[in-house]
Amino acid sequence: MIAKPDWMLDELSSAGRENLDADHVGRYDSKMDADATNEVALMHSLGLDAASTLVEFGAGTGQFTLAAAATGAKVVAVDVSPVMLDALRRKVAGGSFDNVHIVEAGFLTYDAPPGTADFVYSRLALHHLADFWKVTALQRVHELLAPGGVFRLWDVVYDFEPADTAERLEAWCATGAQVPAGTAVHESWGRWEIAEHVRDEHSTYRWLLDTMIERVGFRIEHVEQPDSVTARYVLRRIR
Ligand SMILES: C[S@@+](CC[C@H](N)C(=O)[O-])C[C@H]1O[C@@H](n2cnc3c(N)ncnc32)[C@H](O)[C@@H]1O
Repeated sequence: MIAKPDWMLDELSSAGRENLDADHVGRYDSKMDADATNEVALMHSLGLDAASTLVEFGAGTGQFTLAAAATGAKVVAVDVSPVMLDALRRKVAGGSFDNVHIVEAGFLTYDAPPGTADFVYSRLALHHLADFWKVTALQRVHELLAPGGVFRLWDVVYDFEPADTAERLEAWCATGAQVPAGTAVHESWGRWEIAEHVRDEHSTYRWLLDTMIERVGFRIEHVEQPDSVTARYVLRRIR
């Protein structure tokens, strides 16, 4: 990690309560399918191969990391949560990968020479940073990528009008299992977990995020918005 000025956010403080909770991390893979096979196929179609260097921010338990490593690419899995990284280390130790590098750091602190990544991948992690810090994170990803490099960004992003916010968020929370707050939910998410995301994390409006992305020098090549709370971007460093 690089030396941190005293005004810099401590990323662990916004890493998400659940991501530092060993019980949650232990059930993460049963709750969440990262669609890694399709995501790696997409990255492959964008040029990912055994000669590539890919950095993943917020790698978590490593569903995408390990699928990407199977291509032979050098994969750097970055995450602020030591609990998540322990889970990933156990998987790597149980496999035969020598091309996975695990780094305990975050968007704001991962230290690598500029222009040394061909691809950056991040799924469901950027929303842990408030909008001001998202811009810094995007700027750092931009610098890390070689010119023309690709950033695949998938996150919870709100695609609705401000006037519709309460209605849309209530509809999203209603998709969660109706169990008392704090109850462990396997294979899906409780309403209380979705409400916690909205309340305590930093998902933002798509029109704000698009502006941040373009402002730091990315071109938005493609966006999928499968529902009103998800955006999957393909971004390219153009300057
Ligand atoms: C919801 S999990 C997603 C894990 C994985 N990407 C997936 O799609 O299954 C969010 C991950 O982001 C990590 N995270 C939170 N804040 C971060 C930051 N500032 N920099 C990097 N990773 C962060 C958490 O520790 C956690 O592992």
